[in-house]
Amino acid sequence: MSRLDSYSKLEQRLAIQQKMAAKTKVKGSGFENLSFLHTILRKGLKTFSLDQKGLENVLDVQIVEKDMYLPNLAESWQGKKILHLSDTHLDGIPGFVEILKEKISQLSYDLCVWTGDFRFGKGAYHEASMQPTVELLQSLKCELGIYGVLGNHDFIDEVELLEKHGMKVLMNESHDLGDGLYLCGVDDPHLYLCDDITAAVKGIPEKALKVLLIHSPEKIEEAQAHGIDYYLCGHTHGGQISLPLIGRPFSNARCKRKFAFGEFEYKGMKGYTHNGTGASSVAARFGCPSEIVIFNLKSS
Ligand SMILES: [Fe+2]
Repeated sequence: MSRLDSYSKLEQRLAIQQKMAAKTKVKGSGFENLSFLHTILRKGLKTFSLDQKGLENVLDVQIVEKDMYLPNLAESWQGKKILHLSDTHLDGIPGFVEILKEKISQLSYDLCVWTGDFRFGKGAYHEASMQPTVELLQSLKCELGIYGVLGNHDFIDEVELLEKHGMKVLMNESHDLGDGLYLCGVDDPHLYLCDDITAAVKGIPEKALKVLLIHSPEKIEEAQAHGIDYYLCGHTHGGQISLPLIGRPFSNARCKRKFAFGEFEYKGMKGYTHNGTGASSVAARFGCPSEIVIFNLKSS
């Protein structure tokens, strides 16, 4: 018996997964769901010999350091480091996992969080597509654990595999990290709409600090209303392509653009929308670097 047999959103998730596997159109939004645009973009990049440069930009992953300020953070947490990966889509780019393993092996961190989209494709699930993710997961060395949430590319079938290899996948639940700090995590809010922040924060003492792991920046107002202190997400890939004069044509998220890229603040709740560690739809980036983020925990 799996721990997800009693998952309250199981039926809803499986129904949408079934449609995704059958390539039935599922209500979504933005560039990521418009496959004809992917084909046009892929052909356009090839025509202008930009496909190789676009791929090189994906592989040129930047290490970004940020401070994460949390109110009245316990002394034992101050100075600890969180490694944040997101949107790795690892099976889409051969050899990418080797580059990430090498880069991450040179970093020091205490805790790792991974905000979904492990796979490149969104259709039928095959365990082989998770092999590079498992490889990266096994290479991570962090004393305080590895935690993740599912994104819109992920099937619930991945949970067991990820947990077998050391990641705790938070499915509308929380984990007590100790000394007044909790990690909360919810299922995908973009395509599967199976997120439940109320369930994720249930039972957490009022005064405890709550860091939320969630795939996209589409639930910022709701998270703030639930007393989340820091909102960590990805999904937008920083737009993945930014054009001269025009900027980023797509955020692929149903939220205000000010929440879709980088650091933000909403009514006292801080957060970060990760640029993505990999790329999806088209394996190319321009003007929006891939990133690995290290957060330094500080008391505000
Ligand atoms: Fe996503």
